Amino acid sequence: MTKPKLKFDPVAQEYFDNPYEIYKRMRDEAPIYYDEDEDFYALTRHEDVAAALKDTDSFSSSRGCDLSMVRTGEVPQRSIIFMDPPDHRHMRSLLNKAFTPRAIQSQHATVVELVEHYLSKVDPDNFDVVQDFSGPFPVEVITRMAGVPEDFRQQVRHWIDTSLQREPGQIDLSETAMQANIDSAVYYYGLVQERRENPQDDMINRLIAAEIPGEHGELRKLDDIEITGFLTLLGGAGAETVTKLVGSAVVEFARHPEQWQKLLDDRSKIPDAVEELLRYVGPVQYNVRYSIKDVELPSGTVPANKPVFLMGAAANRDPRAFDNAETFDIERDRSQAQNLGLGYGIHSCLGAALARMESAIALDHLLDFMPRYEVDFDGLERVHMQNVAGYHHVPVKVLR
Ligand code: HEM
Repeated sequence: MTKPKLKFDPVAQEYFDNPYEIYKRMRDEAPIYYDEDEDFYALTRHEDVAAALKDTDSFSSSRGCDLSMVRTGEVPQRSIIFMDPPDHRHMRSLLNKAFTPRAIQSQHATVVELVEHYLSKVDPDNFDVVQDFSGPFPVEVITRMAGVPEDFRQQVRHWIDTSLQREPGQIDLSETAMQANIDSAVYYYGLVQERRENPQDDMINRLIAAEIPGEHGELRKLDDIEITGFLTLLGGAGAETVTKLVGSAVVEFARHPEQWQKLLDDRSKIPDAVEELLRYVGPVQYNVRYSIKDVELPSGTVPANKPVFLMGAAANRDPRAFDNAETFDIERDRSQAQNLGLGYGIHSCLGAALARMESAIALDHLLDFMPRYEVDFDGLERVHMQNVAGYHHVPVKVLR
């Protein structure tokens, strides 16, 4: 029997339902996948994706990180994730100051407090891990850090949810998604101006005070649009992702109760479990780049001037890089290959330490709260989003 033609459609219902199914075929049959209909390339083997993530001379982020943006080159705001060196270097070294290990560690008590708060409110007999727990707490952490007033913290999450939402078959943003982006940008812009008038000791005021080298090396301040861009990115990058990771963790451990038991027996394995979750069900499926020139990669050539999907989630399950790559194993040997779940190279996740800490604290508390639990698999609902995979609903019952 001949196989159906290999077709990767990033907004197909089947892809949203199970992104991993097609990755194997892409890695084996078309490691340098070219899509004739949409005119893009996609890389799925670990050695190709890792090489491309490192090669910012060839793969540019400046036209955006999703297909719709990269095609038009219209990035919604000047944001670090859409910058190439040297701009990226300046912005990153400035922002690194807000994300030092000490700054992250100082959020520990806040994260514990929020995790406990949301868990204390759920009904153990019937709750939704994403809606009641992993959705609300990460956005609260990051928006508190940024200096967003309490009343607007959950609103930020709803804007992001709407702006990332894609219906099957839809590559470009819907009007609703566009409007959510505008509403959130208008809100942040107003907040930055408000903070200029009434300074507080928060990240917004530190960004207002910060200086970076300008075009000719002279120091300059960030303008309101740049600060707005960063705050918008933080909301999205820092909330949606942890939400998805924790939701997927609960599903994966329900499928592998023996792995949950290992954590119950030995909590020191939690950090390894977080790494394995990032590898096996990491929320970020891909980031799109634009090829500035013809590029030779281990598996072949990518021509110049094309959108290129760098599919970290596919690379993370590449058997050429990881033994038993399709097996969820919290005790696996981590030295085999670079885990690409938090990116790699200059754009690798700025909030990695925070993401790891939030996920570890959430798992630790879930182990106490639901040492035994069952997931209503029929009630699982996946998100339909651009580049992020995970669940919208994970119904759970704690077993006694
Ligand atoms: C499990 C949670 C998370 C995952 C899986 C994740 C994943 C990623 C990935 C794959 C990238 C690289 C994007 C690229 O190469 O274009 C990235 C970048 C980034 N992440 Fe995260 N992230 C997470 C949590 C966070 C948190 C909590 C924050 C907030 C502080 C954050 C802030 C950022 C920022 C600002 C960038 C852009 C960095 C740059 O362009 O230099 N992320 N993240």
